[in-house]
Amino acid sequence: METKTLLLLSLTMLSPVSFSTSFTPTDNYLINCGSNTNTSFIPTDSRIFGADSTSQGSIFPSKGQSISPKNQNPSPNSPTLYNTARVFTTASSYKFSVERNRTHFVRLHFSPFKAQGFDLSTAKFSVLVNGNLLLSDFSTKVVVLKEYVFRVDSNALEILFSPVCKSSFGFVNAIEVFSAPKDFILDEGAKLVSANGIEVYKNLSSHVLETIHRINVGGSKLVPFNDTVWRTWIPDEDFLVLKSAAKRAVTASAPNYQIGGASREIAPENVYMTAQQLNKDNNSIQSRFNITWDFPVGSVGVRHLVRLHFCDIVSASLNQLYFDVYLNEYSAESDFDLSSLTFHVLSSPMYVDYIVDSNDLGAVRVSVGPSAISGLLRVNAILNGVEIMKMINPSGSQSGPKKRAVWIAVGSSIGGFVVLCLIVFVVTLSCKCKKKKPKPRRLESAGWATLCVYGGSTHGRMSEVTVNEYRSLKIPFADIQLATNNFDNSLKIGSGGFGTVFKGVLKDNTKVAVKRGAPGSRQGLPEFQTEITVLSKIRHHHLVSLIGYCEEQSEMILVYEYMEKGPLKEHLYGPGCSHLSWKQRLEICVGAARGIHYLHTGSARGIIHRDIKSTNILLDENYASKVADFGLSRSGPCLDETHVSTGVKGSFGYLDPEYFRRQQLTDKSDVYSFGVVLLEVLCARPAVDPLLATEQVNLAEWAMQWQKRGMLDQIIDPHLAGQIKQNSLKKFGETAEKCVADYGVDRPSMGDVLWNLEHAFQLQESDSEPSREPREDSNVNAPELPSPRIAPQDPSNDSETETDSGDGTSEIKNSQVFSQLMTNDGR
Ligand SMILES: *[C@@H]1O[C@H](CO)[C@@H](O)[C@H](O)[C@H]1NC(C)=O
Ligand SMILES: *[C@@H]1O[C@H](CO)[C@@H](O)[C@H](O)[C@H]1NC(C)=O
Ligand SMILES: *[C@@H]1O[C@H](CO)[C@@H](O)[C@H](O)[C@H]1NC(C)=O
Ligand SMILES: *[C@@H]1O[C@H](CO)[C@@H](O)[C@H](O)[C@H]1NC(C)=O
Ligand SMILES: *[C@@H]1O[C@H](CO)[C@@H](O)[C@H](O)[C@H]1NC(C)=O
Ligand SMILES: *[C@@H]1O[C@H](CO)[C@@H](O)[C@H](O)[C@H]1NC(C)=O
Repeated sequence: METKTLLLLSLTMLSPVSFSTSFTPTDNYLINCGSNTNTSFIPTDSRIFGADSTSQGSIFPSKGQSISPKNQNPSPNSPTLYNTARVFTTASSYKFSVERNRTHFVRLHFSPFKAQGFDLSTAKFSVLVNGNLLLSDFSTKVVVLKEYVFRVDSNALEILFSPVCKSSFGFVNAIEVFSAPKDFILDEGAKLVSANGIEVYKNLSSHVLETIHRINVGGSKLVPFNDTVWRTWIPDEDFLVLKSAAKRAVTASAPNYQIGGASREIAPENVYMTAQQLNKDNNSIQSRFNITWDFPVGSVGVRHLVRLHFCDIVSASLNQLYFDVYLNEYSAESDFDLSSLTFHVLSSPMYVDYIVDSNDLGAVRVSVGPSAISGLLRVNAILNGVEIMKMINPSGSQSGPKKRAVWIAVGSSIGGFVVLCLIVFVVTLSCKCKKKKPKPRRLESAGWATLCVYGGSTHGRMSEVTVNEYRSLKIPFADIQLATNNFDNSLKIGSGGFGTVFKGVLKDNTKVAVKRGAPGSRQGLPEFQTEITVLSKIRHHHLVSLIGYCEEQSEMILVYEYMEKGPLKEHLYGPGCSHLSWKQRLEICVGAARGIHYLHTGSARGIIHRDIKSTNILLDENYASKVADFGLSRSGPCLDETHVSTGVKGSFGYLDPEYFRRQQLTDKSDVYSFGVVLLEVLCARPAVDPLLATEQVNLAEWAMQWQKRGMLDQIIDPHLAGQIKQNSLKKFGETAEKCVADYGVDRPSMGDVLWNLEHAFQLQESDSEPSREPREDSNVNAPELPSPRIAPQDPSNDSETETDSGDGTSEIKNSQVFSQLMTNDGR
């Protein structure tokens, strides 16, 4: 006995990956039905199923009539648990007292056998739990384990077995009822994927879920002993549509579970330590294909929860893997970037819940494939685990549409109530604030210092300080529907990570761009909030202004001033590009630099944009540029810090390599990204083009090779040929080169960049010959000009007076610097 225990202990210690953690359910009922002995399910399952009867009589069922036959000829492989059963000749139930409002697992074991005149495989019955019909007219000839997960709203859980007719009967061999780990099913955050795109799915926990598949992709079968919540996971091979497309990936190191990602209770280590990845062995490196699984679910058009598990065990470092995910051939994720979703820790488990309807073949199809932005050599896609659960509507909700209508009515009246409260609140507030009523359209750039208050370490979280300020920007959803003709597809002008952008006209004829959040993106909310807090505070001629926002009915909508000519990128390359002149391009760059410079210096701590790219620089009808999309931005370091530590966010190809390496954010990261934009403007090609030869894929690297050889003119946009003056190009090239320097300390400030771009503009405009080039241009590496610091522009004060900065030295307004420069060159 003792040796046996010892052996078990040492086995456990030898295989640290296979032992279950300490999850102990609050409610935990394990019933060996129709038996008067305690037993375990399988030898390695340490849990004991208790007898439901004693020699005195049965404890269960709580009501109804039953008998407890024994299997006379049990097969040697059959678990003892399955050698007894409780047979119900009338409707009978088991009743358990449970914690209210908590998600519970219910597992029913059915293993039909012949005994005492009963052939359990002829049983036919229904099973209801707290009035929810789980099984209807059920009968089985084979062993079946049914698992349900749902929230129990009362403090009792009653499982009712009801024979379909008088001559029939029901049975069960074992029952498990236990409380699920906390947050096992979250109400928010599931994404409904359908032909209509992706929408938020709410109230998930009000559904009864029936487990249909639980798959350890790329791995082996896992039994209750291997799992924290005693689940069984099976391998995926049989579900692969094309086996040769997939290749197993296995790691020996345990995954890095993190708070905010998946927990051990969501799925055990073994699930995340194996995966399928693209099999590139017998495919040419460049070919792109998907791995596809078909999971039969037995019914057509039925709603299912699909929980996908991911853990990047295939990359050697962060940000190497970008892939797409499809459900029933609808896009569920594009450019899926596990690195950024797992807080920049490699091999960190995470999961996403999707809701889909089963397809015409009665299956759920899952595909993963390379994304368009995955680098040429790193084309890959992975999947670690899949769980598919059928959503059973709460009972009595057959009248779906009717219930929905009631809900909408209730919802809008609640909404109305909230709005009313808000109005009362705002009115009270504005009275308190000496009747200083904020104007709805143009908000004065109020207290910069407040940004510092909330900017600490809680990216995207709003403090009371800011809440009141942007409340006045609220626009009713109805007005937005009206403005966009109810989000008419013909008014769609773009879509991106955050959602879809529509053109619209407000009641007062203001043209606006309406950005509607992609419902369901858990990432969306903080970004939405950041954008409002940042933009409601800053106004600048070169920053796109926020006109308002809407947060009703689970919508996240931002309304901006309309930028007639759209993103800069569309004017540089691709279909319908407008071949801007060099002068136009310089003006655009100068404008954008001015906007970013204002961001960096306009407040005590400054704001770092974090996502500078050519799609975030927009042009108005006169091709004046404005910087947009502040979703990722955050305030800069406080005075005593030199950087902000943060998870790397931003766009591929524009990311500062130093920020990448050290995860420390400074305003020099924006300078790097802006340098890439400068090169894009000059060369008219994307920052990353995976279709090009390896050395050309990354624009910054490629252009710098030419710049270092002094041959930048060889790769400029052919449409600029003959337009650029040599010294203007030289200045521009040097500026871009400094911006994309490897180390932040070697990069100029945005003020210097602005100064240099203006200089490049002046060189282009002046009729000076190269021989009359300004002296300071002769030395490439020495600091340029006396380099005066350019003061932030105050939009409310455009006068050209000298301003006194905090340290007593006087700063010069950049318009003045500009005019000085002009006078110098003019002579
Ligand atoms: C799962 O548990 C069994 C014992 O029941 C053990 O033999 C097996 O190695 C475990 N599998 C894994 C992958 O840990
Ligand atoms: C079964 O286990 C329960 C609880 O551990 C115990 O009270 C009971 O006596 C056991 N019954 C038998 C028959 O061993
Ligand atoms: C939880 O139960 C209480 C009553 O005990 C109820 O008032 C409350 O609304 C329930 N919460 C949820 C989320 O269902
Ligand atoms: C969620 O479901 C519960 C119970 O079914 C219901 O009372 C509640 O109104 C629902 N909430 C939403 C937001 O649908
Ligand atoms: C890839 O190789 C496997 C064997 O390793 C083979 O069965 C399969 O047909 C090959 N696929 C292609 C597309 O050549
Ligand atoms: C992957 O599957 C999706 C959905 O069926 C399809 O749209 C996409 O083109 C496929 N990708 C590749 C590379 O085959």
